[in-house]
Amino acid sequence: MKRILVTGALGQIGTELVIFLRKLYGENNVIATDIRYDKTNVAVNSGPFEVLDVTDGEKMFQITKRYKVDVVIHLAAMLSAVAEQKPLAAWHLNMNGLMNALETAKELGIQLFTPSSIGAFGSSTPKEQTPQDTIQRPTTMYGINKVAGELLCDYYHMKYGVDTRGVRFPGLISCMAPPGGGTTDYAVEIYYAAIERGRYESFIEKGTYLDMMYMPDALQGVVQLMEADPKKLKHRNAYNIAAMSLEPEVIAAEIRKHIPTFVLDYKVDPARQAIADSWPNAIDDSAAREEWGFHAKYDLENMTSDILEKIRGKVKV
Ligand code: SER
Repeated sequence: MKRILVTGALGQIGTELVIFLRKLYGENNVIATDIRYDKTNVAVNSGPFEVLDVTDGEKMFQITKRYKVDVVIHLAAMLSAVAEQKPLAAWHLNMNGLMNALETAKELGIQLFTPSSIGAFGSSTPKEQTPQDTIQRPTTMYGINKVAGELLCDYYHMKYGVDTRGVRFPGLISCMAPPGGGTTDYAVEIYYAAIERGRYESFIEKGTYLDMMYMPDALQGVVQLMEADPKKLKHRNAYNIAAMSLEPEVIAAEIRKHIPTFVLDYKVDPARQAIADSWPNAIDDSAAREEWGFHAKYDLENMTSDILEKIRGKVKV
């Protein structure tokens, strides 16, 4: 990668990925784009930034061409819980945005990364050690978008030779920019609430295991996959990647090692619980390990120490 354009750069992943990439590749070689302009966001004020609505394919193409980009990292998308409330808008943004990114990559002969998700699986998928290649019959609009996206990326690679690559992200836990409307957001909120109020009311039920990952491992994974030798990539799009399988009580117990009085209550949201129940408990990421050496460094223990310290520094309680 030499010059990279990131869509959705003000989102949860984008904000941190832009900073990470600017450190590795040089600040002027990472073009941050987002539908919003927010001059307080570090992705906006630390290098080139353009306002871009990803459903505007012509503008995406023109910006990518003007900056002589060789890799597009397409992150702009609507997450699972919001997508269930606005399925048509989700289809429009998630699918047309991706089609525009694929067409841009095809026309300019450049690489494309786009994330899939554990949301690409459904209730008929094996829940434990979910294999790389398995049943994918999701029941959410977000999941349907993700499966269609995986197939489209395969199609553009097979038919046009576009160097498409992607991973299935677990729920991502981070504290620089908030996630926007996902099912796994509780695992981010719980840490803020622990520091700010000493208690949290979870919208996901006790005992609901889902894959989670700390953001630094996700960022490292993107770079590692994009820099991997293409000859080694048998799966190419939508590698399972995993770090830890968590449920609310397990996170709470770890938080109590730092904040012994932390209280966890429940007010389950049936809509988000239904989404969580349809997703795997723990996915198998051996293909990513074998084909490009993915290896998550953070587990629940070192992630919890790190994120609590960072949030403490941020909220100054
Ligand atoms: N974190 C996402 C969500 O909850 C899953 O990819 O929607």
